Amino acid sequence: MQRQTVLVTGGTGFTGSHLVNRLIDEGYCVRVVDNQPGLFHDQLKARGADITIGSVTDRDLMFKLVEGVDTVHHVAAAFRAINLPKAVYYDVNVNGTRYLLEAAEHHHVRKFVYCSTCGVHGNIEQPPAPESAPIHPADYYQQTKWLGEKVAHEFMERGMDITILRPAAIYGPGDPERWAMLFQRSKSGRFLMFGDGRATYHPLYIDNLIEAFMLAMCHPAAAGQTYLIADERYYSLNEIVGMVGRVLNKPVEIVHLPFRPLWLAAVACEVAYAPARKPPPIFRRRVDWFRQNRAFDIGKAQRELGYAPKVDLYEGLSKTAQWYREQGYM
Ligand SMILES: NC(=O)c1ccc[n+]([C@@H]2O[C@H](COP(=O)([O-])OP(=O)(O)OC[C@H]3O[C@@H](n4cnc5c(N)ncnc54)[C@H](OP(=O)(O)O)[C@@H]3O)[C@@H](O)[C@H]2O)c1
Repeated sequence: MQRQTVLVTGGTGFTGSHLVNRLIDEGYCVRVVDNQPGLFHDQLKARGADITIGSVTDRDLMFKLVEGVDTVHHVAAAFRAINLPKAVYYDVNVNGTRYLLEAAEHHHVRKFVYCSTCGVHGNIEQPPAPESAPIHPADYYQQTKWLGEKVAHEFMERGMDITILRPAAIYGPGDPERWAMLFQRSKSGRFLMFGDGRATYHPLYIDNLIEAFMLAMCHPAAAGQTYLIADERYYSLNEIVGMVGRVLNKPVEIVHLPFRPLWLAAVACEVAYAPARKPPPIFRRRVDWFRQNRAFDIGKAQRELGYAPKVDLYEGLSKTAQWYREQGYM
């Protein structure tokens, strides 16, 4: 039987590279497009991934790469870079999504999976939030992910088989940034918590998310549906820091400080760094971590797709810590 070809956008990034590895493990022929080689280019290439360095905003390139493909997993996003002009977020997250969908429709792709974000719901007033909870993106990145969902709906109405995933806070080996800071700060034995630390946070271990991508790709019930994807349960920030301490085998003293001065400092940093187009040391999206409530109901994915997150927080954090040690992040 001929092997099916799958295109993964953002395939050399954190999530994309895990997905590419899983698809290769399962015998798929994998194409990747990403605007940079990232940490995993050589490893994925050695495993047989066909990698193109290019942008999802290049419409002609998307038409070329989508030809002959069975499934597109659209994972690429302008996401980590901070202080990008709004036009860049829009171009990548909205226009790029449209170009890929146009290409997929043109080439009669069987399945399209769009990776959105739980952030489209913003602060969760009534936890845990299901997919039908109000849409309140908290920043421009999240707004453009929501606009990307709307573009996907246009194509669903025209008959395409599309599934939208809204992942919670993804973590695991391969993510060099955000959770590394949590580990680094906890390792010192003293964690500065701005606010009371009772805001909720819903982690998502990378292997659990990859399972959801595979279900979205293969399960017939996923057609035309949107799913919040997260680990089995959510935690308070104080609990998350406590668990990091357990994994590091180190008691962590949580020192509480007021949130408002941090928020004002973040605003000032964004303004000060904007002319130089340099990433500010702190910015609103990052400091919002201390106050946004993120707690989701994953029942729909469990019932309809049989989604069952296997890796719990302790195991996931232990594997992540091991990777940080091996890579010298900690
Ligand atoms: N991480 C989370 O907690 C989280 C939570 C919810 C949803 N998500 C969504 O999950 C997806 C993956 O996130 P991630 O954490 O794996 O991020 P990531 O590591 O930044 O992966 C995204 C990849 O896409 C690339 N990319 C950016 N703009 C591109 C373009 N114009 N054309 C082609 N490739 C481009 C990025 O390159 P650059 O590094 O050069 O930008 C990066 O390699 C994103 O869609 C994000 O919105 C993430």
